[in-house]
Amino acid sequence: MRLSVAEKELHHLDYPFKTLPAMKVAKLAVDEAARQKYRGVGTYMLHQAAQIAWACNDAYFAARFLPVDADVEHDEGVLAFYEKNGFAPNAELTNRKRKTISMRLDLYR
Ligand SMILES: CC(C)(COP(=O)(O)OP(=O)(O)OC[C@H]1O[C@@H](n2cnc3c(N)ncnc32)[C@H](O)[C@@H]1OP(=O)(O)O)[C@@H](O)C(=O)NCCC(=O)NCCS
Repeated sequence: MRLSVAEKELHHLDYPFKTLPAMKVAKLAVDEAARQKYRGVGTYMLHQAAQIAWACNDAYFAARFLPVDADVEHDEGVLAFYEKNGFAPNAELTNRKRKTISMRLDLYR
């Protein structure tokens, strides 16, 4: 994934590279009935995604960030959900029509 110069500074990344290794959360959803019955399932799945990325890193793959395209077209509240889980909006890659907002979680913050 790409980060701006300011974002790289924020993460203390002194790399000359334009792109940084990442493992993307492509789709995330909790069944409506389960959402009403239990709290924290979405948060749990994000923790699981981070665990998978850390496990891959242990096996010599590389992921510094978990990016996600937050689907604000259907529910603006997902931004708050991701922020509560440590994600920050990215300066780049926000969909022009604001259907999604690109966000990232630093796996080693
Ligand atoms: C977004 C989603 C995955 C969150 O899963 P979840 O199991 O409901 O979330 P959690 O119970 O782990 O919520 C963690 C916190 O985020 C908040 N939160 C969760 N979904 C939220 C929403 N849509 N709007 C505002 N806040 C939300 C919760 O209130 C909770 O806050 P708290 O800790 O202060 O109580 C789930 O609501 C969902 O499947 N939504 C429909 C599909 C979708 O929009 N997916 C994301 C696409 S990028």
